[in-house]
Amino acid sequence: MRVLVTGGAGFIGSHLVHALHQKGIPVAVLDDLSTGKRAHIPPDVPLYQTDIRDLNAVLHAFQDFQPTHVAHQAAQASVKHSVQNPCKDAEINLLGGLNILEAMRATGTQKIVFASTGGAIYGEVPEGRRAPETWPPKPKSPYAASKAAFEHYLEVYRQTHGLTYTTLRYANVYGPRQDPHGEAGVVAIFTNRLLHAQPVTLYARKEPGDPGCIRDYIHVEDVTRANLLALETNLEGTYNVSTGQGRTTEDVLYTIARALGTTPRVTYAPPRDGDLEVSVLDPTQLQAHGWRPQVPFEEGIRRTVAWFREQTQR
Ligand SMILES: NC(=O)c1ccc[n+]([C@@H]2O[C@H](COP(=O)([O-])OP(=O)(O)OC[C@H]3O[C@@H](n4cnc5c(N)ncnc54)[C@H](O)[C@@H]3O)[C@@H](O)[C@H]2O)c1
Repeated sequence: MRVLVTGGAGFIGSHLVHALHQKGIPVAVLDDLSTGKRAHIPPDVPLYQTDIRDLNAVLHAFQDFQPTHVAHQAAQASVKHSVQNPCKDAEINLLGGLNILEAMRATGTQKIVFASTGGAIYGEVPEGRRAPETWPPKPKSPYAASKAAFEHYLEVYRQTHGLTYTTLRYANVYGPRQDPHGEAGVVAIFTNRLLHAQPVTLYARKEPGDPGCIRDYIHVEDVTRANLLALETNLEGTYNVSTGQGRTTEDVLYTIARALGTTPRVTYAPPRDGDLEVSVLDPTQLQAHGWRPQVPFEEGIRRTVAWFREQTQR
């Protein structure tokens, strides 16, 4: 197996690159470094600094590295930016993704594992329920729509060109190397702000002062393990990658504060435009294939906090 990880210099992709590298599996990264960093990946892993919107450059990387498998993590990954610029979102997430599929077809690459979004694709999940993969996608943002559309293209390429794919619909992923300066990734944002003794804003679910929206937080190591399972076995189809447990934003905040031994200064704000109230996903299907989330939330937060603390001390 030879794996090309698109977006491999980013938060999630870089964890997968390290895991493949540690296993001795030949791995290369295709990334334009728009949000990713060279320093996130081992120095001896080849990097094709390439925009997936550039078909010729993508083809060159495939012809040069000759991957058997692709882990497609590269994306415009911000819901907010997708609302501001839906054309750019579709150029990267849909047309860029099609360039990857065309390059696979041209070079006979066997399998793709696609990083989709469970956190956005199902829309609002009724409280107390967990969205299974069988629920039809109800995108509420251009980002979710482009991810859902690309899922359909994967199935079309399977039927017409015999391409093999696994779609992994991630819940809310957190862990070391997540960008703390975006508007998403609440664990990274809160951790960074508390470490610098800055106040945090807690957006309400309904009314300012409530504990905030409910999300399903999954540690990046568990997401990496799901990708390895999809790459190393004949797993095909579409799977949620989640814990199945919902947590409020306030719960997340105070778990981080406890891990840091600090008391947060909190500004309670009204609901944020476009935020889903509840998103919790059912992980039963992937569990039937032997995958389990192995990092309990408190432990995952401790490890994430330790990593951010180390960065600030450098
Ligand atoms: N973080 C989450 O909670 C989450 C949840 C669901 C799905 N996802 C998906 O997981 C994948 C990885 O997300 P992440 O959180 O690690 O984000 P990230 O921004 O850290 O990683 C994305 C990577 O893709 C690269 N990239 C962006 N545009 C590119 C382009 N045009 N050409 C080549 N490379 C490009 C970036 O430089 C970056 O390294 C994305 O597909 C995202 O949509 C993430």
